[in-house]
Amino acid sequence: HQVDWEVEDSELGDFDHYMLKEIFEQPRALENAMRGRFSQDGSSSKFGGLNIGARELRQVERIVFCGCGTAWHSCLVAEYLIEKYARIPVEVEYASEFRYRNAPLDKDTLIFVVSQSGETIDTLAALREAKRKGYRTLAINNVVGSTIARETDGGIYQHAGPEIGVASTKAFTSQLVLVSMVALHLGRLRDMSFSAGVSFVNTLRELPALVEKTLLVNDQLKEIANRYSQFDDCLFLGRQLMFPVALEGALKLKEISYVHAEGYPAAEMKHGPIALICEECPSVFLVSGGEIFQKTIANMQEVKARKGKVIAIATDDCVIPDGLVDELVVVPAVDDPALPIIMSIPLQLLSYHIAVARGCDVDKPRNLAKSVTVE
Ligand code: G6P
Repeated sequence: HQVDWEVEDSELGDFDHYMLKEIFEQPRALENAMRGRFSQDGSSSKFGGLNIGARELRQVERIVFCGCGTAWHSCLVAEYLIEKYARIPVEVEYASEFRYRNAPLDKDTLIFVVSQSGETIDTLAALREAKRKGYRTLAINNVVGSTIARETDGGIYQHAGPEIGVASTKAFTSQLVLVSMVALHLGRLRDMSFSAGVSFVNTLRELPALVEKTLLVNDQLKEIANRYSQFDDCLFLGRQLMFPVALEGALKLKEISYVHAEGYPAAEMKHGPIALICEECPSVFLVSGGEIFQKTIANMQEVKARKGKVIAIATDDCVIPDGLVDELVVVPAVDDPALPIIMSIPLQLLSYHIAVARGCDVDKPRNLAKSVTVE
């Protein structure tokens, strides 16, 4: 099968670890994911390998997204974006649950699997189960010619290049830009206007440069990581689109630093996790402007009142009250289609530097495999 990777893509170059190299490759990975995939009029996206026409796509009444690990978080972002911009109901399932659950599905349901490697056995089994039942299947996948790529009815290649670090970074954000483009595509087939489509496309086109700019927080994150690396617990809190990003931030920290970390929608904190808050359990808040900004600020105050340390990752349109946060990392404000990508960058860097400070084997964390081909 065809492989579109160059040898130098797999070399470490000036970086200490593949993970850091891959974090810094994200502007290029995003460009590669978008290349040639916007319509001529600049108001929509197009994909060459869906093998499903506009008329049929319009008939889709529900989409079930399946994946594992980081890819499952991409599925959650897909849910928020597709429901918001295309108004199609989306469900997200762990592939391992979907394959055994035998959930009743409408006939006009589309099954969408997301997998970097295209070899994860649970995701593959979910795909096979969906096909057996006669559902139309699509996949987002990075490795050209993978088993999932060969078996799905249609799909989208990520073109992110080889990802060698076990903890997924560039493959994750590349999935995020693609699910965003899927939301745009489906939205434009329904009631998203021409001008809304153009503005969506422009937001995505600015992404590589904005990610480049966001990567400038690296030194700051390294300092923060050194101050917090001794803690064994950490919460990641975000609302709406920031919730899956919080889950992914927690997963990254767990995977490579062996720090116990949990992600929650910030408002859920009061239903349990707040009991964990103390001086030794910092909280990382993802903050963007908009309707829930004040609510998130209130959640931060609850943490502060319990002597919890607050690390805020905030877009530059937010005015955070004085004295509320211990650390403030500012990233460029962007519209929703790009927000999860921008917000992911500081979290990747935070977990990377914490892992390095703790002396962990960043690229080959204990007990984990890059792709899990056993049940
Ligand atoms: C393993 C990896 C994770 C990855 C998951 C799904 O658990 O350690 O980083 O997210 O598999 O992999 P996939 O290749 O299907 O995206």
